[in-house]
Amino acid sequence: MTESYQNELQPSQRVLLGAGPSGVNPRVLQAMTLPVIGHLDPEFFQVMDEVCVMLRKVFQTDNWFTLPLSSTGTGAMEAACTNLLEPGSKIMIFKNGYFGVRLADIATRCRAEVISIDLEWGKAVTPDLVEEHLSKHDNIDVVGIVHAETSTGALSPIPEISDLVHKSGALLLVDAVTSLGGHDLKIDEWGVDVCYSGTQKCIGAPPGLAPITLGDRALELIRNRKSDVQSFYFNLKDIETYWNDNRAYHHTSPISMTYAIREALRMLLEEGLENRIIRHDKVASGLRAGLNALGLQLLSEPEYQLNPLTAVRIPDGIADTDIRSKLLRDYNIEIGGGLGDLRGKIWRIGLMGENARESIVFTLLSALEESLDSFGYEVAYGSSLSAAQLTYANY
Ligand SMILES: Cc1ncc(COP(=O)(O)O)c(C=O)c1O
Repeated sequence: MTESYQNELQPSQRVLLGAGPSGVNPRVLQAMTLPVIGHLDPEFFQVMDEVCVMLRKVFQTDNWFTLPLSSTGTGAMEAACTNLLEPGSKIMIFKNGYFGVRLADIATRCRAEVISIDLEWGKAVTPDLVEEHLSKHDNIDVVGIVHAETSTGALSPIPEISDLVHKSGALLLVDAVTSLGGHDLKIDEWGVDVCYSGTQKCIGAPPGLAPITLGDRALELIRNRKSDVQSFYFNLKDIETYWNDNRAYHHTSPISMTYAIREALRMLLEEGLENRIIRHDKVASGLRAGLNALGLQLLSEPEYQLNPLTAVRIPDGIADTDIRSKLLRDYNIEIGGGLGDLRGKIWRIGLMGENARESIVFTLLSALEESLDSFGYEVAYGSSLSAAQLTYANY
């Protein structure tokens, strides 16, 4: 009897329109097949430097400390928290979705005092909310905000928030896992002190690395810690000694993923950061018009809509998994379901990086029309496609 593991692996070619990972361009996959060299090979040092140069451009920062951590986005959340926080520190975290909740969980595990601001999921973190809550507390060290809340499709306006945070004397920590490369994000101009992301969304590489950048104020806070950073793996000071001229071994670098991010960033900069951000904006506007034409409602408020991810309410009488399973089975399309309390109530449609394309929106909308119709939802065939077409024509 043959066991299934004896067969060569042949994953399906999915159209990845969930919350990430998103599609990976063959150029990036090709880069991953290049020869593995040692993590202390001078040729690899050059690759590392090139990646850092490109990451600074994408984060729009001159921060020296800008590098890809060997982890997914959650590792960067851990790294940011374990390095910035210690017992006795105070962090205010705005929880307007699943990832705000996760950030607060991680900060709590660092034994910091966590002031959690619970907001309705789907709402953005607005400057008035930040001002109101900061005025109620003293001596906050860090304020943590998720720029692009992937669980709800809400985008929070960081530029307006940043000044308020700094006036209070706190540092600003921003989760940009779903916004880097897909929305404007200006680390230096906006005064963001610490920001991290992931490779698997708008950057267009597989999951596995987490770009992070830290400014001077954040590095000073870390330098002045009273206690050691509790994590060995995520101790940023030690990680830096591998990425700076010391090239001191810290852990074995994921070589092939570093090739992947290099190629993905190279593609991003070939396209131009601004062009890529506009592409995400345009493509998402067509999707929203199409969903609207189908009578579906978006979860987040119109003025705070995320482009790389759109959360849409599942209509009454339609079962979440019926549609998602059909899309996967009949069309090879993956869309995401809701997280936490939103499970079964929303779908999350990602148009990120490689998959932020008008042609993909048309593919999805036509598949969605047929799928909804087959489960009894009234659909005027072609209506969502025309709405998207019109939006693109007038963009
Ligand atoms: C906003 C946000 N933060 C953090 C994460 C965690 O990243 P990862 O799943 O790569 O660990 C995600 C993942 O989707 C995310 O969307």
